[in-house]
Amino acid sequence: MPFTQVKKLMEFISDELDKYVCDHTENEPAYLQELNRRTHVEVLQPRMLSGHFQGRVLSMLSHMIRPNRILEIGTYTGYSALCLAEGLTVGGKLITIDVNEELEELVSEYIAKANMQDRVENLIGDAMEIIPTLDEEFDIVFIDADKKNYINYYNLVFDKVKSGGYIIADNVLWSGKVLEEYDSLDKNTKLLMDYNRMIHEDERVQDVLLPIRDGLMIARKK
Ligand SMILES: C[S@@+](CC[C@H](N)C(=O)[O-])C[C@H]1O[C@@H](n2cnc3c(N)ncnc32)[C@H](O)[C@@H]1O
Repeated sequence: MPFTQVKKLMEFISDELDKYVCDHTENEPAYLQELNRRTHVEVLQPRMLSGHFQGRVLSMLSHMIRPNRILEIGTYTGYSALCLAEGLTVGGKLITIDVNEELEELVSEYIAKANMQDRVENLIGDAMEIIPTLDEEFDIVFIDADKKNYINYYNLVFDKVKSGGYIIADNVLWSGKVLEEYDSLDKNTKLLMDYNRMIHEDERVQDVLLPIRDGLMIARKK
């Protein structure tokens, strides 16, 4: 099936319904609105930012789980990190990793604006190298970095996730490309399809793929 056709199929929520959904979802705090605007004006590829609706979903999931430790792989400008950190228990901590040191200043500025300096730790470097050095047990891991390493990240973090903890991966529908013929696909789409298949077949986890924005694969470690 051609990609354009697949994209059309994926538009199962009309603009009007999408607006209704957003109108009936709480606003994000003012500092997140500002971070969203600044990311669009000052940073390349602003579409990578989670944004209002997905951000509120991440915040809600975090409030439901009440995590003490969260690991985020792929900070970008810090939007999703600040949303996830909203649900931390008292004394809890979110560690977020990004390889792009150019964003560090902006991220630190908004961690301070959110008054979360005591809760959010921003690490700069390759997540593949940093994760093995972390001596923590996580309640939530949010994977939202380079697609080629999704499977590696899952395998690297698995033993660091508590029993009953969650591994959430973003962009797993890849704008609907996952519906195309596997052999005709580019490397990233194949890797995301491999990721979804692997999670679905992994008997150590309960899985649900939520069709939110570009798709969130949620795996709960049994
Ligand atoms: C989709 S963006 C993250 C968006 C952010 N989580 C949000 O929702 O606002 C992906 C980020 O992953 C980072 N990244 C890519 N490869 C990485 C790696 N090997 N280690 C750490 N970060 C990486 C990129 O620099 C980029 O900022």
